[in-house]
Amino acid sequence: MNISIAIDGPAGAGKSTIAKLVGDRYSLMYINTGAMYRAVTLKAMQNNIKPDNTEELVELINNLDMHFQGEKLIVNGQDVTEEIYMPIISKNVSYYSTIKEVREKLVELQRRIAQKYSVIMDGRDIGTVVLKDAKLKIFLTASAETRANRRYKELEEKGIEVNYEEILEDIKKRDYIDSNREISPLTKAEDAIEIDSSNLDIPGVVDKISYYIDGIKK
Ligand code: DC
Repeated sequence: MNISIAIDGPAGAGKSTIAKLVGDRYSLMYINTGAMYRAVTLKAMQNNIKPDNTEELVELINNLDMHFQGEKLIVNGQDVTEEIYMPIISKNVSYYSTIKEVREKLVELQRRIAQKYSVIMDGRDIGTVVLKDAKLKIFLTASAETRANRRYKELEEKGIEVNYEEILEDIKKRDYIDSNREISPLTKAEDAIEIDSSNLDIPGVVDKISYYIDGIKK
């Protein structure tokens, strides 16, 4: 039987880094749902489709073939992994991800993947909506300043020129939109375990989650 692990939390809490490592340790397929919302945003913007044009958005998504190849996200045969992390996409993704039709389409795809494979899936609504029956739900948090700092370093390493204050501002704005939207707002599932990573290093968080996974495997 396939098992599912859900990791939710705000932008920059370290979800993707942690989920990848835990996935490797337990041979789980890592599904980055934020990357899927980013890919829709990228394609919509490339096609000049505004967030309120739901009809064209749905048509666009229906014509997107999205799949993960390891850590890479391939959309219609094109590797978009780098492009979807450009600041212009980060700035706009919250507007597209509040659209009901966009969420319905992506949730459907995410559930289909989880039916087929054992997954560790990260996002905002995985434990509360997408995989309500996940074997383990983690809610990963960190202070806005810690998260901005991490994202700053990440982008700097990728050679993308950024400004710390702008990132912090962007994170706070996204937190607000993600937590206050009408559909599937970012909230901790009742049965999720909360881990604050502000004062933990990456191996520390991975070990904590591994402890819980070992618990469900017994
Ligand atoms: O995890 P991330 O920062 O790459 O996510 C990008 C955006 O996508 C984020 O602002 C909120 C949205 N998102 C969402 O609404 N639901 C998810 N399951 C994952 C991401």
